[in-house]
Amino acid sequence: MRLIIAGGLKGQIIAAAKIAMSHGAAVTHTDGLDQTLAVLRARGADLLMIDVAQPIAAYVAALEAERIRTPIVACGTSTDARAAVAAIQAGAKEYVPLPPDPDLIAAVLEAVAADQSSLIWRDPAMERVVQLASQIARSEAPVLVTGESGTGKEVIARHLHQKSGRKDKAFVAVNCAAIPDNLLESELFGHEKGAFTGAIARRIGKFEEANGGTLLLDEISEMDVRLQAKLLRALQERMIDRVGGTQPVKVDIRIIATSNRNLAEAVREGSFREDLLYRLNVVHLRLPALRERPGDILALAEHFARKYAELNGLPARPIAADARKLLVANAWRGNVRELENTMHRAVLLASGSEIAADAMLTPEGEILSAAPARDPAARAAQTAEAMTRSLVGHTVADVERELILDTLDHCLGNRTHAAKILGISIRTLRNKLSEYTAAGITVAEPGQARISAA
Ligand SMILES: Nc1ncnc2c1ncn2[C@@H]1O[C@H](COP(=O)(O)OP(=O)(O)OP(=O)(O)O)[C@@H](O)[C@H]1O
Ligand SMILES: [Mg+2]
Repeated sequence: MRLIIAGGLKGQIIAAAKIAMSHGAAVTHTDGLDQTLAVLRARGADLLMIDVAQPIAAYVAALEAERIRTPIVACGTSTDARAAVAAIQAGAKEYVPLPPDPDLIAAVLEAVAADQSSLIWRDPAMERVVQLASQIARSEAPVLVTGESGTGKEVIARHLHQKSGRKDKAFVAVNCAAIPDNLLESELFGHEKGAFTGAIARRIGKFEEANGGTLLLDEISEMDVRLQAKLLRALQERMIDRVGGTQPVKVDIRIIATSNRNLAEAVREGSFREDLLYRLNVVHLRLPALRERPGDILALAEHFARKYAELNGLPARPIAADARKLLVANAWRGNVRELENTMHRAVLLASGSEIAADAMLTPEGEILSAAPARDPAARAAQTAEAMTRSLVGHTVADVERELILDTLDHCLGNRTHAAKILGISIRTLRNKLSEYTAAGITVAEPGQARISAA
């Protein structure tokens, strides 16, 4: 772990650094924002500990401006209660009181490392993926990880790094979709001072930052074709050119790429280079959607319940039987990320001795539905049943009218289409519509649908 300690807490900061080093962290001490940015640009870091006396908000803004995602922990003497609150508000993840408590420093380092690499699984479908990952982790082969959003592509990439011979070196992630095309090249390969407007200092790119370690190229399908050519060259020759640089730089990295788009299709469409796909796709790990590995749901839910209880200083509560039923039945379109967010909310909302079903809410505050949504046939049957139930108690004339008006809406007021779908003549339709209009009921005009007619 690469740790930067910023600020002038004198003896106490040295004590904190010693503790961190005894836990295997490589520590750099900087005395202000400029120096910290210089180190981040030159080498990167996994964690930044800052003296609360420093302008924390300025650090947060500066890191954001350069898209550096290193988490920030503030530290200060324990009497700085207000400074601690301000630091958290300014964007620090945690506040660590000084003089440093060795256990607390160790816990923070561990939390940073663990939060990023714990991989939970129980379902046989996931077991196969994890087993393949473990088998190839120690090889140098590039790995392509695919799967829907939120299935754990980054988690498995970190797991691969942890199980590889490179685990003591950096793991660096770049999200190719989040960075504008014109900046991505310098983000990956770095730039020399003055290479372009805004290049105020030399900055090394992610390839150099990850040297000796692993580079995760997230959402690689979004990389522009011109840059794909440079990436291919970097992979083939293990050399990169900084933007505005004159000397190629040697790099030694293992590449893991992720995509939630089908890359073979992107190749056919011409938006992804075929030769690059072959280079990256030496090993392919396909992460199943959460609904394809139901055996993982409760294992993950329990893990997240423990994690968020601990993080919020709340008692660890077991998940009640009714809540488990809801969890297993839900569709989880947002995959593990959605489950994690649901459990985070549930932990905060739960009050009794267990986490009950009424704490299982959607972000909108609705209780998760117990619909057996994983099975499309069951879902269709359920919708049909709900519709029939809603018809009971209505007259045939009412139902006919709703059917006609809804169909007309669907056809945007086109009478000919609507009559065809309804299986009645256009003349019958016209007669019905004038009946409705005469009764004061709104009917869609051609080219329109009724506004919220229901
Ligand atoms: N098997 C797992 N064990 C523990 N946590 C997991 C697991 N899979 C996913 N998570 C958690 O779910 C969240 C989403 O995972 P991750 O970011 O790896 O997904 P992703 O596939 O990269 O998503 P996206 O396509 O949106 O980038 C993270 O907070 C991660 O910690
Ligand atoms: Mg991701």
